[in-house]
Parts: sequence; structure tokens; C-alpha cells
Amino acid sequence: MMMKTKIVSIVVICHLMFVNLVNARTPVYLDANQPIEKRIENALSLMTLEEKVAMCHAQSKFSSPGVPRLGIPEIWMTDGPHGIREEVFWDQWDGAKWTNDSCTAFPALTCLAASFNPEISSLYGKSIGEEARYRNKGVLLGPGVNIYRTPLNGRNFEYMGEDPYLSSRMVVPYVMAVQQNGVAACVKHFALNNQEKDRMGINVEVSDRALYEIYLPAFKAAVQEAKAWSIMGAYNQLRGQHCCHNDLLLNKILKNDWQFDGAVISDWGGVHNTEQSVYNGLDLEMGTSTDGLTTDGTSPYSEYYLANPYLQGLKSGKYSEKELNQKVTRLLRLIFRTTMSANRPYGKYVSPEHSEAARKIAEQGIVLLKNDKQTLPIPVGKYQRIAVIGDNAVRSLVVGGGSSSLKVAYEVSPLEGLKAKYGAETITFSKGYSADLDHRKPESKTIADSLLTAAVETARNADAVIFIGGLNKNWFQDSEGDDRQTMALPYNQDKVISVLISMNKNLTVILCSGNAVEMSWLSQVPALVQAWYLGSEAGNAIANIVSGEVNPSGKLPFSFPKKLTDNAAYSFGATSYPGDGKKQEYKEDILVGYRWFDTKKIAPQFAFGYGLSYTTFEYGKISADKKEYTAADVVKVSFTIKNTGKTDGAEIAQVYVSQPKASVLRPAKELKAFKKVNLKAGETQTVELELKVKDFAFYNDKTQTWEVEPGEFILCNAASSANVKSKVSVIVK
Ligand code: BGC
Repeated sequence: MMMKTKIVSIVVICHLMFVNLVNARTPVYLDANQPIEKRIENALSLMTLEEKVAMCHAQSKFSSPGVPRLGIPEIWMTDGPHGIREEVFWDQWDGAKWTNDSCTAFPALTCLAASFNPEISSLYGKSIGEEARYRNKGVLLGPGVNIYRTPLNGRNFEYMGEDPYLSSRMVVPYVMAVQQNGVAACVKHFALNNQEKDRMGINVEVSDRALYEIYLPAFKAAVQEAKAWSIMGAYNQLRGQHCCHNDLLLNKILKNDWQFDGAVISDWGGVHNTEQSVYNGLDLEMGTSTDGLTTDGTSPYSEYYLANPYLQGLKSGKYSEKELNQKVTRLLRLIFRTTMSANRPYGKYVSPEHSEAARKIAEQGIVLLKNDKQTLPIPVGKYQRIAVIGDNAVRSLVVGGGSSSLKVAYEVSPLEGLKAKYGAETITFSKGYSADLDHRKPESKTIADSLLTAAVETARNADAVIFIGGLNKNWFQDSEGDDRQTMALPYNQDKVISVLISMNKNLTVILCSGNAVEMSWLSQVPALVQAWYLGSEAGNAIANIVSGEVNPSGKLPFSFPKKLTDNAAYSFGATSYPGDGKKQEYKEDILVGYRWFDTKKIAPQFAFGYGLSYTTFEYGKISADKKEYTAADVVKVSFTIKNTGKTDGAEIAQVYVSQPKASVLRPAKELKAFKKVNLKAGETQTVELELKVKDFAFYNDKTQTWEVEPGEFILCNAASSANVKSKVSVIVK
């Protein structure tokens, strides 16, 4: 008995010694089972001042240093937001010519938004997050949620449209699913980067109301609901301060009011000042120009605003270590959540699942804008000769456009997709126009004419013509760095379309773009499809929609004006858009997008939330569960939708809210709920949606609070912002 007790004691003592030994050897910060805040505290206590400062600025184009002495890894970042950018040289934007970094291109975010499907957004985030993880990136520089304010903004294609509610609902699942891979989403560009023209410095003046009601909600949702681990500051200024070190945006709103606990990363080259960077909420400075790898040039990494100038200020006592510790705390948190987290999945790259996801997202986002005389679909076998015309049928639309440009494993062009669907013998192709001609050169006119003549011949002999045009990723088109100069289709396309329709009435126009374009030819063209930038699976998705194997179900995430002057920002003149190079005033205030068209009773070409299907839907009358509510209540609305056609399909039902009598200007109506409903041919479903009364609030500039004014509210169900089906009135006490 004694012997047994002795043995047990020895075993226990040995075990305790072993545990102590392990604990003594494993510092808390390296122990992935310890709470993150403890790990941060421990790591911070072990770091020198120099190590801390080093963490706050870049060491290469896309990375910042960790703490090599402590085994804390670097932070590697990647664009975003549609696929994982190729590896670039240490200090250059040029591709490093690796042979294993060609990614899957997912559709641009306008397409994702057009799906109005949060589940599809989650699939998007999961898939791109897996690719980022596989490539060993800790931070994905996306998604972008700047509001679509003008159709000229070169980067609209990277964002989620004009409505704060839609973009909020779509950004949350994307961010959550990315981060499930142990990769941080970096939601950008915070905030008011609504144009590319003069983006590096333009000072935006905007009312608090527009700021809170229109421009901030998607960021807020990403922070509070999706718990985004990082945010990217914008290039422009707000109220006289650059957004990458903006006290109001970063300290007050983001970190204080919203309790954001992640890291603020600057846009590349968005930092201009050490002192403001120290105090105004920036955590990591990226992309300030350098002259390469040298340390003695004019601006090497050591001379970043948050590098030596900061270190010297700390050493001289100008700055205290308080702000530095706050920055490093946030950066360590980012590292512990990503590269140093336990059980991170390994990711996947260019897998068949990712191709399938890319195709599904594309199919859900393509919008059928017009379809007279059942021009579409074109079932396989219906015609023997289909003419495909247009540069965008063969052009790579994943390359170009700035930082979202991708090196892809493959890209199925629309022409390839259509050939695969209908058989190469059925399809004849003619370019019709070229985006590569310099129209200022006299010989270009001759080439343009001959392209058109050839296209006319191709179209004349065809049973059906499919024109595939739109914008592309060239400078002054859908591209970062500057805005479009007009809303017109470029490269002579209006003329090409007009000539084609005079040759062959069976014409479908497919536009690939991230922006609205003017359509002088619209009344003559029987079928029109908005096909965005669809990524690797573009051709397959387009062919599935055109052939009717997939029924279109996307709706527009922004309004298409008939002409540029109908756009709210533009209609107030240069002070409002694009500003005078130094400043601009958002004069349309809260009336952005359909809020403007509806309230001012201007008919758009195509309304926000609009999109057709190969089938038809009938809406029943909307009803609410009660007549009276308090501000804390939820309004439950319901109505039926019937698929009245012969094809299965999906309808995006929308619920808008308006307050007819308010003490402040309120938009004619605002989207507050939506649901994409799949309906078999002939099927009827009851759609039930819940709306929080507190979401009916407006932002009161004077009291700086959200306020629900008691009174009557009208809730309507609608197939688009311009197609209200029925209304119900409720009272808020
Ligand atoms: C863009 C960012 C991008 C960064 C890095 C900047 O020019 O505005 O969106 O993430 O470059 O490529």
C-alpha cells in the first residue's frame, strides 16, 4: 500500500515538474491556447521600442515586419477584392513572375451585390479567403464598400452599389467567411473615396446626416456584425484631414463609437504626416513611396512617417509610448487572429469548387435589363448561325483596372463560353470595334470602319446577333486612378450597335462594365443584359444565361441614369463633382442613387433593384403583423409571390420604407429588407420579412443621435425601387 502511494506521488511530482518546465519554456504569447489579450500583453512586454516602431510601417510593397527575435511573423497582405493578386517584387508594383501564383478570378463586387444574396456573398468570402490562406496571406485587401455616388467613378466596379442597406447585408457574410480562414478582411476605403479623380488629396465636405446614413453603414456593419479584423483608410480628406489619419473617422467613430478592435491600415501612399499618424488612429503605414531597397535614398522604408521620424519623436519625448503600444496591440491582435492562431485551415487554390463558386456568383448577379419578343433565351439548337460581335467577347477583363488586376489560372471569354455551349460551327465572330485603337490617329478611322464593315457582314447572315461590349479596365474606363470622362460607351460602340440593329433585328446587347452607360440605341434593341466583370468563369456564366440553362435573377445594385446630368452628384455642378481639385461638397446630401431619382421624380433609365427573369412573378398585397409599434419593436411583414410563368426562377423581393410626414427631409423611400426567393414554375410562396423599427431612424445632426420620429410609416413591397406593388401603413408611437 505504502509502495503504491509512493509511486503515485512520484508520478504526480514528475508530471507537475514537466508541466512547469513546458510552461517555463513556452512564453504566453506563443501559446495559442492562451487568450489573445494575454498573449498581446506578454509579447508587448518583451519588445524593444525599435521593434514596436518597426511593426507600424511597411518593409516591402505588401508586408510589414513582425518581430523576428521573438518568432512573431511578418504581416503579408494582398489585393483583393476579386482574387488574389500575383506576387510582386519586394519594392515594385511589377509582377515577380512566379509560376505558382495564378488565381481564380471571382466576379467583381458589383456583380456580387447584384445577386442580392447574402448566402452567395458567404460563398464568395469562403472561396477567396481559402485562396488567400493558401497563398499565405494574413490580410486580404478587400472588400470595398464605397457608395456608388456617380457613374463616372473609375472604381465603382470594386464596390457594392449605391444603397447602404444592400451593401451592409452583402459585406457582412463576405467578411465573416474570409476570416473563417484565419485571414483578415481589410474593408476599404474608409471613407468617402467615392471618386478616383483627385483622390490623393480631395477634401470632402459632407453633412453628418449623409455621412452616417449613406456612407458609413456598410463599414459599421462590417465592424460590428462581421467583426472585421482590419480597415483601410481612404486617400481623400474629410473635413480637412486625410482619412488615413483622421481623428473623426478613426478615433471617434471607428475605434470609440463602434468599438473596432482591429488594425487600421493606410491605403498605399495615403499617409502624409507623422504627428497625425501617431494620434489620429492609424496603426500601420503602407505604400509611402520609397526609392527601392536602399536605406540612403530619399524615402526608404526607414523614412516612413511612422518609422525613424516616429522613433526619434519617441526618444526625444515628443511622443509617449501610449499610442505606440495601442498600435502594436492592434497589430499583434491581427497576427494572433491570423498567422499565429491555432487550428488555422490550410486553404485551397484554383480548386474546382472555386470555379464553381465563381460561376454561381456570376450567374446570380447577371441582370436581364430588357427582353422584348422573347429574344432571350436562345436554347441550344434553336439557330444554326449566331454572330458574336464585340471586343469584350474576347478581351481579358480581369487584367487592368489598377490594384484589383489579376493574373489568373484561366479566364473563359464570352466567345469561348458561347462556342462551348452552341458548338464552334454555330458561332461566327467579328470584333466590330477595337478598344486598342488610338482614335486620334487618322489610320484608326480606317481600321474602325473596316472592323464595322466586317461585323455587318457577319451579322447580316446570322439568325441571331449577340453584341458583347461595354467598358473595360483601361485608363479612364473602369479603372483606378482616374474617373471616366463621359457616361457614353467608348470606342464607337453606339454606332456599331445602331448599324447592327439596322442589319439584324434579332440583336442581344450584353454589356460588361461596373458602371452605368448611356444607351441612345435602347429603344431599338430588343434584348439587353448587364454582365459586369465576371472573372474566370465569365464565358460559361454568360452562355448559361443566354441559353436559358440558368434563369437570370440579378437586380441592379445602382440606378442607371438616362443621362449624366440626371445623376444627383453631377447635377449640382463641379463644386459637388468632381470638385475643384482641392475640395468638393456633397451637395445632394442624403439623396444618393434611387433616393434622388424617387424624391425628385426623375425617371432613371433602369432603376435600382430592377432586373427581369425568363419567367414572371405576381406579388400579393403586403401586410404587417400589427398596426402600431414602439421604437423597440420589430415589424413583421408578409406577402405572397407567385411564379406565373413556365420556367423556374428566383425573384428578389424588396421592402422599402417611407415616412410621409417628418420634421426633416426624408427620401421618398429607402430599402430596409429584401429576399431572394426561388420559385418553381407555378409555385406560390409567402415571403416573411422582419424590419426593426429602429432602422427607420434618421440621423439627427443637431443631437448627433439616431432618431425615430413617431408617426405614420409606409412600408411597400416592390420588384424594384420604381416598381412598387402594394403598401401598408403602420404607426410608430
Ligand atoms: C488601392 C488599394 C489597394 C492598394 C494596394 C491602392 O492604390 O487604393 O485599394 O489595396 O493600392 O495595392
